[in-house]
Amino acid sequence: MIIAIDGPAASGKGTLGRLIARHFGLLYLDTGSLYRAVARDVMARQVDIFDINAARLAAQTLDPATLDDPGLRDPGVGEAASIVAGFPEVREALLEFQRQIASSKPGAVIDGRDIGTVVCPDADAKLFVTAKVEIRAGRRFTELSRAGEAVTPEGVLDMIRRRDARDMERAASPLRPAEDAHLLETSDLSIEASFDTAVAWIERKISR
Ligand code: CDP
Repeated sequence: MIIAIDGPAASGKGTLGRLIARHFGLLYLDTGSLYRAVARDVMARQVDIFDINAARLAAQTLDPATLDDPGLRDPGVGEAASIVAGFPEVREALLEFQRQIASSKPGAVIDGRDIGTVVCPDADAKLFVTAKVEIRAGRRFTELSRAGEAVTPEGVLDMIRRRDARDMERAASPLRPAEDAHLLETSDLSIEASFDTAVAWIERKISR
């Protein structure tokens, strides 16, 4: 079974994806960590983040063992990730790894921006998780301040708006819901309520 979860920055896909994977006993892949790791590797080489060749090479030589690096959550790495994610060469180089995980037993929950549309168009269930930009920025502000980052609410709101614009307006696999995705608006939902709603919908969908 493959469950695709897409949505914009800080929509809560990661938290939800992990809980859903545990509930159904599936693997979990946060594909944002792949783009973040590519950005980290380009930044470590101290080359321009807009350098397509450096980004392609970083994607082609990405070591999956480094995907749980806590440094990937740095806000600067997230911003850089949304830049390298705009290069079709980078997306292409990361496709096979994502599909390998998707086809592993016993199945997987995969979260990102283009899982339901490009990576796993035949997923058994597709969720598109959203929340108002101010709510997402508030959640990300809390997460980053707890991690000790020196951020302001206005700075985080600006950052999320820039990320949204890049993710939605790029030509290569822009962020958009797949036609058969179920929209889950979590602005007024707790994590528990989002989880319950998502599981109820997935169970209905896979029993059809
Ligand atoms: O956690 P957050 O919502 O901030 O973002 P993320 O899921 O870690 O992804 C970081 C960046 O990678 C995003 O802003 C996207 O530009 C890019 N990304 C993508 O293009 N395609 C994916 N499947 C996942 C992430």
